[in-house]
Amino acid sequence: MSDRQFGFETLALHAGQIPDAATGARALPIYQTTSFVFDSADHAASLFNLQTFGNVYTRLSNPTTAAFEERCAALEGGRAAVATASGQAASMVALLNIVETGDHIVSSSKLYGGTHTMLNVNFKKLGIDATLVDPDEPENFRAALRPNTKAIFSETLGNPAINMVDLDAVGKIAREAGVPFIVDNTAASPYLCQPLQHGADIVVHSATKFMGGHGTTMGGVVIESGKFPWGNGKFPSMTEPSAGYHGVRFFETFGDFAYTMKARMEVMRVFGPTLAPFSAWQLMQGIETLPVRMERHCTNAMAVATFLQSHPKVAWVNYPGLQANRYHDLVKRYMPKGAGALLSFGIKGSAVSGYEAGVKFIEGLQFISHLANIGDAKSLVIHPASTTHRQLAEEDQIKAGVPPDMIRLSIGLETIDDILWDIDQALAVANA
Ligand SMILES: Cc1ncc(COP(=O)(O)O)c(C=O)c1O
Repeated sequence: MSDRQFGFETLALHAGQIPDAATGARALPIYQTTSFVFDSADHAASLFNLQTFGNVYTRLSNPTTAAFEERCAALEGGRAAVATASGQAASMVALLNIVETGDHIVSSSKLYGGTHTMLNVNFKKLGIDATLVDPDEPENFRAALRPNTKAIFSETLGNPAINMVDLDAVGKIAREAGVPFIVDNTAASPYLCQPLQHGADIVVHSATKFMGGHGTTMGGVVIESGKFPWGNGKFPSMTEPSAGYHGVRFFETFGDFAYTMKARMEVMRVFGPTLAPFSAWQLMQGIETLPVRMERHCTNAMAVATFLQSHPKVAWVNYPGLQANRYHDLVKRYMPKGAGALLSFGIKGSAVSGYEAGVKFIEGLQFISHLANIGDAKSLVIHPASTTHRQLAEEDQIKAGVPPDMIRLSIGLETIDDILWDIDQALAVANA
Protein backbone atom coordinates (compact mmCIF):
# COMPACT_ATOMS: atom_id res chain seq x y z
CA MET A 1 0.00 0.00 0.00
CA SER A 2 2.82 2.41 0.86
CA ASP A 3 4.15 2.27 -2.74
CA ARG A 4 0.85 3.49 -4.14
CA GLN A 5 0.68 7.02 -5.57
CA PHE A 6 -2.49 8.27 -3.88
CA GLY A 7 -4.74 10.81 -5.60
CA PHE A 8 -5.06 14.42 -4.47
CA GLU A 9 -8.45 13.85 -2.78
CA THR A 10 -7.05 10.93 -0.76
CA LEU A 11 -4.01 12.94 0.30
CA ALA A 12 -6.24 15.85 1.34
CA LEU A 13 -7.96 13.48 3.80
CA HIS A 14 -5.13 11.23 4.94
CA ALA A 15 -1.62 12.59 4.33
CA GLY A 16 0.30 13.21 7.54
CA GLN A 17 -2.21 11.60 9.87
CA ILE A 18 -3.19 8.12 11.02
CA PRO A 19 -5.60 7.19 13.84
CA ASP A 20 -4.08 8.22 17.18
CA ALA A 21 -1.92 5.33 18.45
CA ALA A 22 -2.73 6.06 22.13
CA THR A 23 -6.54 6.50 21.94
CA GLY A 24 -7.72 5.36 18.50
CA ALA A 25 -9.14 8.82 17.81
CA ARG A 26 -9.81 9.03 14.06
CA ALA A 27 -9.85 12.82 13.90
CA LEU A 28 -6.60 14.70 14.40
CA PRO A 29 -6.02 15.30 18.15
CA ILE A 30 -5.17 18.86 19.24
CA TYR A 31 -1.95 18.75 21.25
CA GLN A 32 -2.63 21.94 23.16
CA THR A 33 0.68 22.02 25.00
CA THR A 34 3.65 24.34 24.97
CA SER A 35 6.25 21.73 25.88
CA PHE A 36 7.07 18.01 25.90
CA VAL A 37 8.63 15.98 28.76
CA PHE A 38 12.13 14.56 28.11
CA ASP A 39 12.76 10.84 28.81
CA SER A 40 16.12 11.65 30.43
CA ALA A 41 18.88 14.25 30.49
CA ASP A 42 20.61 12.42 27.61
CA HIS A 43 17.39 12.43 25.58
CA ALA A 44 17.03 16.19 26.17
CA ALA A 45 20.62 16.78 25.07
CA SER A 46 20.25 14.71 21.90
CA LEU A 47 17.04 16.56 20.99
CA PHE A 48 18.78 19.93 21.39
CA ASN A 49 21.76 18.63 19.37
CA LEU A 50 19.34 17.62 16.58
CA GLN A 51 20.68 14.05 16.88
CA THR A 52 17.20 12.74 17.72
CA PHE A 53 13.96 13.96 16.15
CA GLY A 54 11.22 14.81 18.62
CA ASN A 55 9.19 17.60 20.12
CA VAL A 56 10.73 20.02 22.60
CA TYR A 57 8.64 23.18 22.54
CA THR A 58 5.66 24.18 20.39
CA ARG A 59 7.42 27.26 18.95
CA LEU A 60 9.59 24.72 17.06
CA SER A 61 7.26 21.80 16.46
CA ASN A 62 4.03 20.19 17.68
CA PRO A 63 2.33 16.94 16.61
CA THR A 64 -0.92 18.65 15.49
CA THR A 65 1.02 21.24 13.51
CA ALA A 66 3.28 18.50 12.11
CA ALA A 67 0.25 16.74 10.60
CA PHE A 68 -0.71 20.02 8.89
CA GLU A 69 2.87 20.50 7.64
CA GLU A 70 3.10 16.97 6.26
CA ARG A 71 -0.26 17.25 4.56
CA CYS A 72 0.65 20.55 2.90
CA ALA A 73 3.97 19.08 1.71
CA ALA A 74 2.13 16.06 0.26
CA LEU A 75 -0.44 18.23 -1.54
CA GLU A 76 2.27 20.35 -3.15
CA GLY A 77 4.46 17.33 -3.98
CA GLY A 78 7.17 18.74 -1.70
CA ARG A 79 9.76 17.17 0.60
CA ALA A 80 9.11 19.04 3.87
CA ALA A 81 7.23 22.02 5.29
CA VAL A 82 7.14 24.41 8.20
CA ALA A 83 3.92 26.06 9.37
CA THR A 84 3.68 29.74 10.28
CA ALA A 85 1.21 32.02 12.06
CA SER A 86 0.03 33.70 8.83
CA GLY A 87 0.71 33.93 5.12
CA GLN A 88 2.83 37.03 5.67
CA ALA A 89 4.92 35.12 8.19
CA ALA A 90 5.36 32.36 5.59
CA SER A 91 6.82 34.77 3.00
CA MET A 92 8.99 36.44 5.64
CA VAL A 93 10.35 33.11 6.93
CA ALA A 94 10.87 31.75 3.41
CA LEU A 95 13.04 34.75 2.51
CA LEU A 96 14.80 35.48 5.82
CA ASN A 97 15.94 31.84 5.84
CA ILE A 98 18.29 32.59 2.91
CA VAL A 99 18.72 36.37 2.56
CA GLU A 100 20.60 38.79 4.78
CA THR A 101 21.79 42.39 4.79
CA GLY A 102 23.48 43.19 1.47
CA ASP A 103 21.47 40.61 -0.49
CA HIS A 104 18.98 41.24 -3.27
CA ILE A 105 15.65 39.71 -4.33
CA VAL A 106 13.99 39.87 -7.74
CA SER A 107 10.21 39.75 -7.52
CA SER A 108 7.11 40.08 -9.60
CA SER A 109 5.57 43.53 -9.07
CA LYS A 110 2.07 42.00 -9.16
CA LEU A 111 1.85 40.98 -5.54
CA TYR A 112 -0.47 40.98 -2.57
CA GLY A 113 -0.16 44.47 -1.01
CA GLY A 114 1.44 43.26 2.24
CA THR A 115 4.17 41.37 0.38
CA HIS A 116 4.77 44.36 -1.89
CA THR A 117 5.34 46.54 1.18
CA MET A 118 7.51 43.89 2.87
CA LEU A 119 9.88 43.81 -0.11
CA ASN A 120 9.74 47.46 -1.06
CA VAL A 121 9.84 49.05 2.39
CA ASN A 122 10.50 46.77 5.37
CA PHE A 123 13.22 44.54 3.92
CA LYS A 124 14.96 47.63 2.55
CA LYS A 125 15.22 48.94 6.12
CA LEU A 126 17.12 45.71 6.92
CA GLY A 127 19.50 46.35 4.02
CA ILE A 128 17.87 43.70 1.82
CA ASP A 129 17.17 45.18 -1.60
CA ALA A 130 14.45 44.10 -4.02
CA THR A 131 13.74 44.83 -7.68
CA LEU A 132 10.10 44.41 -8.65
CA VAL A 133 9.56 43.60 -12.32
CA ASP A 134 6.60 43.24 -14.66
CA PRO A 135 6.06 39.44 -14.58
CA ASP A 136 4.28 39.27 -17.94
CA GLU A 137 7.68 39.05 -19.64
CA PRO A 138 9.78 36.32 -17.92
CA GLU A 139 13.04 37.78 -19.25
CA ASN A 140 12.41 40.82 -17.00
CA PHE A 141 13.38 38.58 -14.04
CA ARG A 142 16.69 37.70 -15.70
CA ALA A 143 17.43 41.34 -16.57
CA ALA A 144 17.05 42.35 -12.90
CA LEU A 145 19.47 39.70 -11.54
CA ARG A 146 22.60 40.94 -9.72
CA PRO A 147 25.59 39.02 -8.34
CA ASN A 148 24.05 39.35 -4.84
CA THR A 149 20.56 38.15 -5.87
CA LYS A 150 19.50 35.30 -3.57
CA ALA A 151 15.93 34.56 -4.64
CA ILE A 152 13.28 35.11 -7.28
CA PHE A 153 9.77 35.59 -5.88
CA SER A 154 6.36 35.54 -7.54
CA GLU A 155 2.73 34.65 -6.97
CA THR A 156 1.26 31.89 -9.15
CA LEU A 157 -1.88 33.87 -9.78
CA GLY A 158 -1.32 37.42 -8.60
CA ASN A 159 -3.68 38.89 -6.04
CA PRO A 160 -5.44 41.13 -6.94
CA ALA A 161 -4.09 41.55 -10.52
CA ILE A 162 -5.19 37.94 -11.32
CA ASN A 163 -2.22 37.58 -13.69
CA MET A 164 -0.71 34.16 -14.38
CA VAL A 165 3.08 33.89 -14.33
CA ASP A 166 4.90 31.60 -16.77
CA LEU A 167 6.29 29.38 -14.00
CA ASP A 168 8.45 27.07 -16.15
CA ALA A 169 10.12 30.04 -17.86
CA VAL A 170 10.86 31.93 -14.62
CA GLY A 171 11.93 28.69 -12.91
CA LYS A 172 14.47 28.11 -15.69
CA ILE A 173 15.89 31.61 -15.24
CA ALA A 174 16.22 30.99 -11.47
CA ARG A 175 17.92 27.63 -12.09
CA GLU A 176 20.41 29.18 -14.50
CA ALA A 177 21.13 31.93 -11.95
CA GLY A 178 21.60 29.36 -9.13
CA VAL A 179 18.92 30.94 -6.92
CA PRO A 180 15.66 29.45 -5.65
CA PHE A 181 12.33 30.36 -7.22
CA ILE A 182 9.87 31.02 -4.38
CA VAL A 183 6.19 30.99 -5.35
CA ASP A 184 3.21 32.19 -3.32
CA ASN A 185 0.54 29.69 -4.40
CA THR A 186 -2.25 31.11 -2.21
CA ALA A 187 -4.70 32.16 -4.93
CA ALA A 188 -4.44 28.92 -6.91
CA SER A 189 -4.18 26.35 -4.06
CA PRO A 190 -2.32 23.07 -4.66
CA TYR A 191 -5.50 21.55 -6.09
CA LEU A 192 -5.33 23.87 -9.11
CA CYS A 193 -1.56 24.29 -9.45
CA GLN A 194 1.59 22.68 -8.04
CA PRO A 195 4.43 25.15 -8.69
CA LEU A 196 7.08 22.65 -7.49
CA GLN A 197 6.27 20.62 -10.61
CA HIS A 198 6.87 23.75 -12.72
CA GLY A 199 10.30 25.02 -11.76
CA ALA A 200 9.61 26.39 -8.27
CA ASP A 201 11.91 25.35 -5.40
CA ILE A 202 9.85 26.68 -2.51
CA VAL A 203 6.12 27.31 -2.19
CA VAL A 204 4.45 29.54 0.38
CA HIS A 205 0.77 29.83 1.23
CA SER A 206 -1.52 32.01 3.16
CA ALA A 207 -3.47 29.01 4.50
CA THR A 208 -5.89 31.65 5.82
CA LYS A 209 -7.47 31.58 2.34
CA PHE A 210 -8.46 28.51 0.31
CA MET A 211 -6.62 25.91 2.42
CA GLY A 212 -8.66 26.75 5.53
CA GLY A 213 -11.46 27.88 3.26
CA HIS A 214 -13.95 29.20 5.81
CA GLY A 215 -12.60 32.59 6.85
CA THR A 216 -12.02 31.45 10.44
CA THR A 217 -8.28 30.97 10.89
CA MET A 218 -4.97 32.69 10.16
CA GLY A 219 -2.09 30.47 9.08
CA GLY A 220 0.71 29.95 6.61
CA VAL A 221 3.13 27.33 5.40
CA VAL A 222 6.52 27.15 3.65
CA ILE A 223 7.15 24.01 1.57
CA GLU A 224 10.45 23.01 -0.03
CA SER A 225 10.98 20.70 -2.99
CA GLY A 226 14.13 19.18 -1.50
CA LYS A 227 15.86 19.55 -4.85
CA PHE A 228 17.59 22.93 -4.71
CA PRO A 229 21.43 22.67 -4.80
CA TRP A 230 22.22 24.71 -1.66
CA GLY A 231 25.88 23.71 -1.97
CA ASN A 232 26.36 25.81 -5.15
CA GLY A 233 28.49 28.39 -3.31
CA LYS A 234 25.86 31.12 -3.11
CA PHE A 235 24.39 30.12 0.25
CA PRO A 236 27.11 29.94 2.93
CA SER A 237 24.44 30.11 5.66
CA MET A 238 23.23 26.68 4.45
CA THR A 239 26.69 25.14 4.17
CA GLU A 240 28.87 26.84 6.82
CA PRO A 241 28.58 26.24 10.59
CA SER A 242 25.52 28.04 11.99
CA ALA A 243 26.35 30.77 14.50
CA GLY A 244 22.70 30.63 15.60
CA TYR A 245 22.49 26.89 16.20
CA HIS A 246 25.50 25.07 17.72
CA GLY A 247 27.63 25.25 14.57
CA VAL A 248 25.32 22.89 12.65
CA ARG A 249 25.97 22.74 8.89
CA PHE A 250 22.37 22.48 7.73
CA PHE A 251 22.92 21.24 4.15
CA GLU A 252 25.55 18.67 5.11
CA THR A 253 23.47 17.39 8.05
CA PHE A 254 19.96 17.39 6.64
CA GLY A 255 20.39 17.22 2.84
CA ASP A 256 17.06 17.37 1.05
CA PHE A 257 15.19 18.93 3.98
CA ALA A 258 17.98 21.27 5.11
CA TYR A 259 16.08 24.42 4.15
CA THR A 260 13.09 23.43 6.30
CA MET A 261 15.29 22.47 9.26
CA LYS A 262 17.11 25.79 9.05
CA ALA A 263 13.82 27.69 8.83
CA ARG A 264 12.59 25.84 11.92
CA MET A 265 15.74 25.92 14.05
CA GLU A 266 16.93 29.42 13.15
CA VAL A 267 14.09 31.61 11.87
CA MET A 268 11.11 30.12 13.74
CA ARG A 269 13.12 29.52 16.90
CA VAL A 270 14.47 33.07 17.03
CA PHE A 271 11.63 35.17 15.57
CA GLY A 272 8.77 32.91 16.68
CA PRO A 273 5.86 33.35 14.19
CA THR A 274 4.47 29.92 15.11
CA LEU A 275 1.12 28.47 14.05
CA ALA A 276 -1.04 27.60 17.08
CA PRO A 277 -1.98 23.89 17.30
CA PHE A 278 -5.68 24.78 17.41
CA SER A 279 -5.27 26.83 14.22
CA ALA A 280 -3.43 23.91 12.57
CA TRP A 281 -6.38 21.69 13.50
CA GLN A 282 -8.92 24.13 12.06
CA LEU A 283 -6.94 24.48 8.83
CA MET A 284 -6.84 20.67 8.57
CA GLN A 285 -10.66 20.57 8.66
CA GLY A 286 -10.66 22.90 5.66
CA ILE A 287 -8.02 20.99 3.72
CA GLU A 288 -10.13 17.80 3.87
CA THR A 289 -12.65 19.40 1.48
CA LEU A 290 -10.22 21.52 -0.57
CA PRO A 291 -10.72 19.55 -3.84
CA VAL A 292 -14.52 19.74 -3.84
CA ARG A 293 -14.55 23.37 -2.76
CA MET A 294 -12.06 24.42 -5.44
CA GLU A 295 -14.11 22.73 -8.16
CA ARG A 296 -17.22 24.68 -7.14
CA HIS A 297 -15.24 27.93 -6.69
CA CYS A 298 -14.06 27.55 -10.29
CA THR A 299 -17.43 26.73 -11.88
CA ASN A 300 -19.18 29.55 -9.98
CA ALA A 301 -16.42 32.07 -10.86
CA MET A 302 -16.57 31.07 -14.52
CA ALA A 303 -20.35 31.62 -14.52
CA VAL A 304 -19.93 35.07 -12.92
CA ALA A 305 -17.20 36.05 -15.41
CA THR A 306 -19.35 34.98 -18.36
CA PHE A 307 -22.32 36.92 -16.95
CA LEU A 308 -20.27 40.10 -16.36
CA GLN A 309 -18.63 39.88 -19.77
CA SER A 310 -21.97 40.31 -21.53
CA HIS A 311 -23.44 42.81 -19.03
CA PRO A 312 -24.11 46.21 -20.63
CA LYS A 313 -22.98 48.13 -17.52
CA VAL A 314 -19.60 46.41 -17.23
CA ALA A 315 -16.53 47.98 -18.89
CA TRP A 316 -14.06 45.14 -18.52
CA VAL A 317 -13.68 41.72 -16.85
CA ASN A 318 -10.45 39.98 -15.87
CA TYR A 319 -10.85 36.23 -15.34
CA PRO A 320 -8.19 33.97 -16.85
CA GLY A 321 -10.77 31.26 -17.44
CA LEU A 322 -12.28 33.41 -20.21
CA GLN A 323 -11.00 32.52 -23.66
CA ALA A 324 -10.19 36.13 -24.59
CA ASN A 325 -8.17 36.72 -21.40
CA ARG A 326 -4.46 37.43 -21.96
CA TYR A 327 -3.50 34.77 -19.40
CA HIS A 328 -5.87 32.10 -20.73
CA ASP A 329 -3.18 29.96 -22.42
CA LEU A 330 -0.91 30.06 -19.35
CA VAL A 331 -3.80 29.14 -17.06
CA LYS A 332 -4.75 26.22 -19.34
CA ARG A 333 -1.13 25.00 -19.10
CA TYR A 334 -0.58 25.49 -15.35
CA MET A 335 -4.13 25.24 -13.95
CA PRO A 336 -5.95 22.75 -16.20
CA LYS A 337 -8.62 22.00 -13.57
CA GLY A 338 -9.91 25.58 -13.39
CA ALA A 339 -8.94 29.24 -13.21
CA GLY A 340 -9.76 29.79 -9.54
CA ALA A 341 -12.23 31.90 -7.58
CA LEU A 342 -10.82 35.39 -8.13
CA LEU A 343 -11.98 37.80 -10.78
CA SER A 344 -12.03 41.54 -11.20
CA PHE A 345 -14.02 43.99 -13.24
CA GLY A 346 -14.74 47.67 -13.77
CA ILE A 347 -18.07 49.44 -14.17
CA LYS A 348 -18.54 51.62 -17.26
CA GLY A 349 -17.48 55.26 -16.89
CA SER A 350 -14.28 57.24 -16.55
CA ALA A 351 -11.67 56.21 -13.97
CA VAL A 352 -13.27 58.65 -11.51
CA SER A 353 -16.90 57.77 -12.21
CA GLY A 354 -15.85 54.10 -12.37
CA TYR A 355 -14.40 54.50 -8.86
CA GLU A 356 -17.63 56.05 -7.58
CA ALA A 357 -19.79 53.44 -9.33
CA GLY A 358 -17.57 50.76 -7.74
CA VAL A 359 -18.23 52.14 -4.27
CA LYS A 360 -22.01 52.23 -4.94
CA PHE A 361 -21.86 48.67 -6.32
CA ILE A 362 -20.16 47.36 -3.20
CA GLU A 363 -22.61 49.15 -0.93
CA GLY A 364 -25.54 47.80 -2.99
CA LEU A 365 -24.64 44.13 -2.55
CA GLN A 366 -27.00 42.12 -0.35
CA PHE A 367 -25.10 39.03 0.81
CA ILE A 368 -21.72 39.24 -0.94
CA SER A 369 -19.58 40.56 1.94
CA HIS A 370 -17.38 43.64 1.68
CA LEU A 371 -14.18 42.70 3.48
CA ALA A 372 -10.43 42.17 3.13
CA ASN A 373 -10.08 38.46 2.46
CA ILE A 374 -10.23 35.86 -0.30
CA GLY A 375 -10.84 32.13 -0.32
CA ASP A 376 -13.83 31.97 2.02
CA ALA A 377 -16.69 29.57 1.21
CA LYS A 378 -18.79 32.76 1.16
CA SER A 379 -18.56 35.25 -1.75
CA LEU A 380 -16.51 38.37 -0.97
CA VAL A 381 -15.86 41.72 -2.59
CA ILE A 382 -13.34 44.55 -2.18
CA HIS A 383 -12.08 47.72 -3.87
CA PRO A 384 -8.27 47.18 -3.70
CA ALA A 385 -7.19 50.76 -4.58
CA SER A 386 -8.83 52.14 -1.44
CA THR A 387 -8.05 49.19 0.89
CA THR A 388 -5.41 46.45 0.44
CA HIS A 389 -3.24 48.59 -1.90
CA ARG A 390 -3.98 51.96 -0.29
CA GLN A 391 -0.38 52.26 1.05
CA LEU A 392 1.01 52.15 -2.50
CA ALA A 393 1.51 55.28 -4.61
CA GLU A 394 -0.92 55.38 -7.57
CA GLU A 395 1.96 54.60 -9.96
CA ASP A 396 2.85 51.49 -7.89
CA GLN A 397 -0.84 50.54 -7.73
CA ILE A 398 -0.91 50.46 -11.54
CA LYS A 399 2.32 48.38 -11.63
CA ALA A 400 0.75 46.02 -9.10
CA GLY A 401 -2.21 45.63 -11.50
CA VAL A 402 -4.65 47.73 -9.46
CA PRO A 403 -6.47 50.38 -11.55
CA PRO A 404 -8.64 52.84 -9.56
CA ASP A 405 -11.94 51.36 -10.80
CA MET A 406 -11.06 47.70 -10.09
CA ILE A 407 -13.55 45.64 -8.07
CA ARG A 408 -12.24 42.23 -6.96
CA LEU A 409 -14.57 39.35 -6.28
CA SER A 410 -13.73 36.10 -4.52
CA ILE A 411 -16.55 33.88 -5.64
CA GLY A 412 -17.87 31.44 -3.04
CA LEU A 413 -20.01 28.35 -2.96
CA GLU A 414 -23.53 29.83 -2.76
CA THR A 415 -26.22 28.87 -5.32
CA ILE A 416 -24.94 30.39 -8.56
CA ASP A 417 -28.30 31.99 -9.47
CA ASP A 418 -28.25 33.84 -6.14
CA ILE A 419 -24.70 35.12 -6.70
CA LEU A 420 -25.68 36.40 -10.16
CA TRP A 421 -28.84 37.99 -8.74
CA ASP A 422 -26.88 39.87 -6.06
CA ILE A 423 -24.33 41.17 -8.60
CA ASP A 424 -27.04 42.16 -11.08
CA GLN A 425 -29.11 44.13 -8.56
CA ALA A 426 -25.99 45.90 -7.21
CA LEU A 427 -25.00 46.88 -10.76
CA ALA A 428 -28.46 48.43 -11.13
CA VAL A 429 -27.89 50.36 -7.85
CA ALA A 430 -24.45 51.51 -9.06
CA ASN A 431 -25.91 52.91 -12.24
CA ALA A 432 -29.03 54.43 -10.69
C1 LIG B 1 -1.50 36.03 -2.22
C2 LIG B 1 -1.41 36.35 -0.75
N1 LIG B 1 -0.28 36.07 -0.09
C3 LIG B 1 -0.15 36.33 1.22
C4 LIG B 1 -1.17 36.91 1.93
C5 LIG B 1 -1.00 37.18 3.39
O1 LIG B 1 -1.63 36.18 4.12
P1 LIG B 1 -2.12 36.37 5.62
O2 LIG B 1 -3.24 37.34 5.59
O3 LIG B 1 -2.51 34.98 6.03
O4 LIG B 1 -0.95 36.87 6.39
C6 LIG B 1 -2.38 37.20 1.29
C7 LIG B 1 -3.48 37.84 2.04
O5 LIG B 1 -4.45 38.30 1.46
C8 LIG B 1 -2.50 36.91 -0.09
O6 LIG B 1 -3.63 37.17 -0.76
